[in-house]
Amino acid sequence: MTEDFNVKLVEDVKSYTPDPLYRKNAWMADYEKTYAKFLADPDGFWERMAKELDWIRPWDKVRDWNYPYAKWFTNAKLNISANCLDRHVNNSRLNKVALIWKGEAGRERIFTYQKLLSQVARFANGLKKIGVKKGDCVCIYMPLVPEQIIAMLACARIGAVHNVVFGGFGAQALNMRIRDAEAKVVITADISIRRGKAIQLKAIVDEAVLNTPTVETVVVLRRRDPPVDLHENELDFYELMAGLPDTCTPEVMDAEDPFFILYTSGSTGKPKGIVHTCGGYMVGTYYTSKYIFDIKDKDTYWCTADTGWITGHSYIVYGPLAVGATVFITELTPDFPDAGSYWSLIEEQKISIFYTAPTAIRMFMKMGESWPDKYDLSSLRIIGSVGEPLNPEAFEWYYRVIGKNRCPILDTWWQTETGMHMITTMIGEPMRPGFAGKPIPGIEADVVDKDGRPVKPGNGGLLVVKSPWPAMMRTVYKDDERYRKYWYTIDGMYAVGDLAVKGKDGYIMILGRADDIIIVAGHNIGTAEVESALVSHHAVAEAAVIGKPDPVKGNSIKAFVILRVGNQPSERLKQDLLHHVRNTLGPIAMPHEIDFVDKLPKTRSGKIMRRVLKAKELGYDPGDVSTLEE
Ligand code: WTA
Repeated sequence: MTEDFNVKLVEDVKSYTPDPLYRKNAWMADYEKTYAKFLADPDGFWERMAKELDWIRPWDKVRDWNYPYAKWFTNAKLNISANCLDRHVNNSRLNKVALIWKGEAGRERIFTYQKLLSQVARFANGLKKIGVKKGDCVCIYMPLVPEQIIAMLACARIGAVHNVVFGGFGAQALNMRIRDAEAKVVITADISIRRGKAIQLKAIVDEAVLNTPTVETVVVLRRRDPPVDLHENELDFYELMAGLPDTCTPEVMDAEDPFFILYTSGSTGKPKGIVHTCGGYMVGTYYTSKYIFDIKDKDTYWCTADTGWITGHSYIVYGPLAVGATVFITELTPDFPDAGSYWSLIEEQKISIFYTAPTAIRMFMKMGESWPDKYDLSSLRIIGSVGEPLNPEAFEWYYRVIGKNRCPILDTWWQTETGMHMITTMIGEPMRPGFAGKPIPGIEADVVDKDGRPVKPGNGGLLVVKSPWPAMMRTVYKDDERYRKYWYTIDGMYAVGDLAVKGKDGYIMILGRADDIIIVAGHNIGTAEVESALVSHHAVAEAAVIGKPDPVKGNSIKAFVILRVGNQPSERLKQDLLHHVRNTLGPIAMPHEIDFVDKLPKTRSGKIMRRVLKAKELGYDPGDVSTLEE
C-alpha cells in the first residue's frame, strides 16, 4: 500500500438537499433512526430484512462470526431464483414486466415475470439434461441479451455455480477463468453487437476452450442468420430447451452454499475468484435494491453496467428482480447510433431510476448538454453512480443536466467483494459533491490509520469495514490466503484497499485505490495482469505499468517496457504489443501509452517501484526512495 495517505481536507463543499417528499415517500424514511436501530441490534436488523423474502427453512442463527469467517442465516434453506421469479408470479406480479431489452435497429424484447420464469425453468431443465448438477460450475460469456440473464437464473435454479465473464475479455483471460473455476459448461453466443458491428464471441471461446479438460459442453446462442455451424460438444441454446417442461422445482440451497464466482483484479497477475453464497447475498442485494435505490412497483429501472461485472450481478439481475422491479437493459452504447442514444431511451422507456458510472458521465459532459437537452428526462426520479469517485464537476453536471436540479444522486461505494452497496447518501439526505456519503444502515465503515485508529474528521486514511455483513465474499476461490489478507491487513477489520477522507460530518470521500489496481473507465485492472501480458510477448524482457489520471476515463494505463536483446524499439513493435495485450486480456486492458526504456526503478530486493515511475511521470516528489536500488 502507498504511504502517502495523509490527506487533509478543505471543507467548503456545497450541499444539496432534495425535496422533502423524497424522504417522506422513501422505503427508508429516516436514515439516522434506522442506523441507530441497526447499531443497537445488528442481528435484529438483518433478520427483519431477511423476513421480507421467501425461505424454504428458516435460520437457526442470523450470524455466526468466527473472525475472519462469517456465516449468515445458518442452516436456512432457500432458492434465489424462486425469490426473483416465483415469489412475484405467486403474488400478483405474474404479468408485470420483469425485463425489457433494446437492441440495435429498434429491436425490443419484453419478458413478464411469468414468461421469464418459464424460460428460466426450461433452460434449467436443459442444463440438467446435459448433466449439470448442484455445485457444478457454469461459465457464462455472453453479450448483454436476455438469454444471459436467463442462463444466470437457470444456474441459480438448479444450484449450479455461475462464473460470468465479461464479453469484452480476450481469449486468455477467459481461458484462465474457465480453468480456475473448473467450468463444466460454457454458455456463449455466436456474436455480440457493438456500434453496428458484430464481434465474434464464439471465435474467442473456440480459442479459450482449447486446453480446458473440465469443459464438456459449449452452449451457443445463435443470433446470426444463417446460423453458424456447431462442432461436436456444442449445442444450440434454444434447441437445448426445445420440448422441455416450463416448470422446474427450485433446488434447495443452504444459505452458505456457494452461489457464484466472479473474478476481479488483484495485486498479482492472477485475478481473484470472489465467492459469494446464496442466503447473505440475496438478503444484501434485496435490501439495498429496495431501501437504497428505493425501487417501487411503478419504477422502470436501468443500470447501464454489463451483467459480467458485479454491478450487473447485484443491480441488474438479483437485487432488482428480488424486489420485483421492471428492469431495462440494452446492447446499445451511449454513443451509438448517436450521442443521444441513452437519453432517447430514458424518454422512450420512461426510466425512473438510472444507474451509471462516472466515466460515462464525464463522457456525456464532453459530448455536450445539447444531447440530453433534446429529450424529455422528466420520468427520472433517482440517478446513481458507481465504480470510481464521482468528482464534484461530474456531480454538478449530472445533478443539473440529467437530474434537473431535482433528482437525488446516489453515489454508491462498494466492491465485487462486498457484493452490495456499503456507503452512499441515502435518498432525502443532504448530498455533498465529491463525497459518497455515510455507511448505510447494516454497515459499520470508517477511515482509519495504518494501526486501525479512526482518523479525526477532516483527515485521510484507509477505508475499512468494521464488522461482517451478509453479502460479503466468503473466500477467494482456491486461495483462502488471499481472503484472509483482507481481514488481517488491519487487525479485526476488512481493509478494502481504498484511500478515503472523512469529512467533519462523517461523510466519506473516496480518493481511489491504495494498491496496484488501476480503475480505467470503471474497470479494475491489475498492473501485474497487464505486465504479465506484456512479458508474454517474445520481444519483452520486463514491463512496469502505472495508472495516469485521465479526464474522462478516470485513469489511463501507461506501460514501460524493456526489450529483450536483439529487439529495437519501433512504432510497429508498439502496435504489435498493443495488439498482443488486446488479444490476451481484451480491449479494456490496453495501455494508452508505451515507453521503451533501458531500466526500471527497483528496490534492492528486485521489486519494481511503480510509485517512483508514477511520480516521475506526473512530476511530483517520489517520497521515500531509500529502498531504491543504485
Ligand atoms: C471503486 C464495483 C469511489 C473503489 C461495484 C472500489 C468507487 C472499486 C465507487 C471496486 C464510488 C466503486 N466512489 N470509488 N462510488 N464505487 N469504487 O470490484 O476503488 O469493480 O474499491 O466493484 O471501485 O470495484 P469493483
